[in-house]
Amino acid sequence: MEQEKKSQTTAEQMIDRDLSEQIKKVTMEIHTRAEKTELMMSFMRGQVTLAQYKLLLCSLYEVYQTLEEEMERNSNHPGVAPIYFPTELARLDAIAKDLEYFYGRDWREKIVVPAATKRYCHRLRQIGKENPVFLVAHAYTRYLGDLSGGQVLGRIAQKSMGLKSSEGLSFFAFPGVSNPTLFKQLYRSRMNSVELTEEERNGMLEEAVRAFELNIQVFDDLQKMLLTIPKQKLQTCSTQSVDTLQIPI
Ligand code: HEM
Repeated sequence: MEQEKKSQTTAEQMIDRDLSEQIKKVTMEIHTRAEKTELMMSFMRGQVTLAQYKLLLCSLYEVYQTLEEEMERNSNHPGVAPIYFPTELARLDAIAKDLEYFYGRDWREKIVVPAATKRYCHRLRQIGKENPVFLVAHAYTRYLGDLSGGQVLGRIAQKSMGLKSSEGLSFFAFPGVSNPTLFKQLYRSRMNSVELTEEERNGMLEEAVRAFELNIQVFDDLQKMLLTIPKQKLQTCSTQSVDTLQIPI
């Protein structure tokens, strides 16, 4: 009996040490903050507009381009290799398809991104160069989010914008993941297999909170952009035209 009690405690202690559990715990509060941003609230209320969604896609394109480039460059790194699932998770081509659907063939010239998106990408590049293991925190924040609440948001978005088919919504679809719940379990176990020093573990938890913060800043900046840029300009302007909105990194 005493032995059983002891082994249970040890098992519990091991779970407490799991990176996946720790990361979920430290980001719980900021996750709630992310859910309460104006942009996410618009999704949740079924009121997301085409203008909001298009702008979000532009920023997501930049973010995933950087994230996936850095992940690929570091794919043999022992901290990154276990959570490197390009076939199942890569979002860049899906977002490009959605952007082409909404903006047309010359979508690349029409992409508009706020300063916060540039700051997010800058951080991803810095991490990729200086501390690739922290890419785990960024990949977790985006991909596990997309496989969780993101799935609900996709269905709501389709209704809110009155889209008849799933065209323009490829971002939300993961054809390489047949069971998101099982896949998330696998992903968490891979995260837990990454060997970390105490210092790295603390840094990782801080980086996860930062990743959420960077997302919140992108959402808030997008909302500001919608208020400040005339509708007409939003459809035509390029990244350059909104440079006035950029805050130096
Ligand atoms: C998990 C909802 C926004 C990142 C979840 C889960 C729900 C949820 C219900 C739990 C799923 C499960 O346990 O299987 C939402 C809703 C959102 C939202 C309704 C907005 C309206 C976000 C944002 C991010 C994010 C903006 C990050 C950029 C995550 C992550 C997880 C998660 C990383 C996985 C947590 C874990 O299991 O460790 N979300 N979410 N979510 N969400 Fe969100």
